[in-house]
Amino acid sequence: MRTPIIAANWKMNKTQKEAKVFLKELIPLISDAECEVALCVPFTGLAVVKRMVKGTKIKVGAQNVHFAEKGAYTGEISADMLKELKVDYVIIGHSERRQYFGETDESVNKKIAACLAKKLRPIVCVGETLEEREGGLTEKVLERQIREGFRGFKSKDFDKIVIAYEPVWAIGTGKNATSEDANATIGYIRQVLRKYLPKSISEKVRIQYGGSMNSGNVKELMSMPEIDGGLIGSASLKAEEFAKIVHYGRA
Ligand code: PGA
Repeated sequence: MRTPIIAANWKMNKTQKEAKVFLKELIPLISDAECEVALCVPFTGLAVVKRMVKGTKIKVGAQNVHFAEKGAYTGEISADMLKELKVDYVIIGHSERRQYFGETDESVNKKIAACLAKKLRPIVCVGETLEEREGGLTEKVLERQIREGFRGFKSKDFDKIVIAYEPVWAIGTGKNATSEDANATIGYIRQVLRKYLPKSISEKVRIQYGGSMNSGNVKELMSMPEIDGGLIGSASLKAEEFAKIVHYGRA
């Protein structure tokens, strides 16, 4: 059995002050959570969020990392720096990073390696654009993102890896994939993993759905056998709404 993971992706939202207000409200609301919960927050919020979740089961994640150990990379953050803050997860290859910041399958591959070397858990995002979907390229794109993104990793590395299937056309648009569609596509992703991994490993990798997931559609999405959690953007910014998502729609 795979333990579902509901992760917030705050993107470029919340100052430290706002993060504190959010956590004071959220922590008591989700003390009974049955799934794993992670908050992926801006770099500037990591220390304060980590401090505030102490004593709870809530995990903390970053939204990016540089692939080099250290050096002349002005403005970048290394895996060591995140490890020092006791960060658990790092989102890698989010479509916004691929679209606006030149992230490629190759840089995704190097960043996953940098995470694994420091025992950080990557949440690796894959997903097709609207154009690719309409051109019938969804499977081809996902196959490439997985083949190139995970090139060179060993079976045991997949213990630490979470995959997020995020169709780009569903992100921030209010148009989520239907549960059947998301389930089928995640099933396809697992089929691709089976080509590269022994079944005992491929069956254990958790694959989340992301893209306009909210308290209204989470129950339906989470009822699907292939969907092991969610990566939640806009609906993760309000504590009450995010708590409902953690409870699969219940208040
Ligand atoms: P959304 O974002 O929930 O606002 O669609 C999801 C994501 O980008 O991870």
